[in-house]
Amino acid sequence: MLMVDIIRKKRDGNALSKEEIDFFINGYVKGEIPDYQVSALMMAVFFKGMNDEETHLLTDAMLHSGEVLDLSAISGFKVDKHSTGGVGDKTSLVLTPMVASLGVPVAKMSGRGLGHTGGTIDKLESFKGFSTSITNEQFINNVNTIGIAIMGQTKDLAPADKLLYALRDVTATVDNMSLIASSIMSKKLAAGADGIVLDVKSGSGAFMKTDEDAFELAKKMVSIGKQAGVRTMAVISDMDQPLGRNVGNAMEVTEAIDTLRGKGPEDLKELCLTLGSYMVYFAGKAGSTKEARSLLEDSLSSGKALDKLAQFIEAQGGSGEDVYHPENLPQAKEKTDLTADDDCYVSSIMSEEVGIASLLLGGGRRSKEDVIDLSVGIHLDKKVGDKCQKGETVATLYGNDKKKMEDAFERLRGAYSFSKDPVEAGKLIKGIVE
Ligand code: URA
Repeated sequence: MLMVDIIRKKRDGNALSKEEIDFFINGYVKGEIPDYQVSALMMAVFFKGMNDEETHLLTDAMLHSGEVLDLSAISGFKVDKHSTGGVGDKTSLVLTPMVASLGVPVAKMSGRGLGHTGGTIDKLESFKGFSTSITNEQFINNVNTIGIAIMGQTKDLAPADKLLYALRDVTATVDNMSLIASSIMSKKLAAGADGIVLDVKSGSGAFMKTDEDAFELAKKMVSIGKQAGVRTMAVISDMDQPLGRNVGNAMEVTEAIDTLRGKGPEDLKELCLTLGSYMVYFAGKAGSTKEARSLLEDSLSSGKALDKLAQFIEAQGGSGEDVYHPENLPQAKEKTDLTADDDCYVSSIMSEEVGIASLLLGGGRRSKEDVIDLSVGIHLDKKVGDKCQKGETVATLYGNDKKKMEDAFERLRGAYSFSKDPVEAGKLIKGIVE
């Protein structure tokens, strides 16, 4: 079989067979097929697409390109959660202790941030001493004893996706539905969960810019999960403005803690309760999602979920006390306010621009090697639909470097649009695919 024939076949709009997909994935992982040929194939897929069968075959080939985790040493039904990525998305920090506090085992692989989106591991490292570099034995032991553990993605898990994702990132071929669906689902299925709850973001700050595309991606991923015998559902949620009010690592942790204390923003709480109720229901800890939601609300109001976060931080090297004293987390030294020029309403906040402003402050990475400043970030005092009076603070930047703050300020100013007339924010939960 020749790679050039596979590229030509896709270029001409034909469906690839299992043998052809296995050939290029195996050859690429072994280093036998060069980047330039795989780039050409990715571009052909970008323009010609893949049908459902090809998408399933690609997922399967990537899933079996490395180790498939065996979580059978963990008792109970393991439910994983994945978000397609957004700005201010600290959902995992709230959701995982919440569901773990109800006895749902959480054995999660998380990633770091790149570009304008953040990553759970970076955020968790705001707790001094906290580490996700734990052994598989420690990981399994922590889940069995305290009900929760998070580790970084091992290099052996779906290595084909790791290679392909890095290549797609630099060849403008990320935002293809089949490539995204197979990339996410191959990793999730290799991570060994019994159930998967997906948060598919839709809007300006997401890969899927329209609800129609977000629903299509959700359906593809749910179908892949089901075919693999894993209970899977997806929530389609709004990313036309950042989630919650804080963007930036330690600031997002603080907001997650506030939410676990019952004092967080409504949108974040609602999304966590929606995703969490499916996780608890799938795990058999409630007879319906309605019952699961009420159990989760109790775990928030009783402080059980907050205590679970403290146990988890302590078990992975941090100090549980910091959960009760978030003022111990890294804090930036300077702040600048963005204020309203006139009386107005906020009509939109471009999430991606807010994410870039946080990156410019030093809170994100341009390349994998960058060291990030965990203390910096942005607080959105006003969100879409909020009324502002002339001179009132719209958003606050927290930073440590005047020049970086000036650059970020300009970007943040450009992210906001205003209107003289009242504006209604879009719905947070746009739909559910089961
Ligand atoms: N996240 C992934 O893991 N893969 C993609 O292709 C896009 C988002």
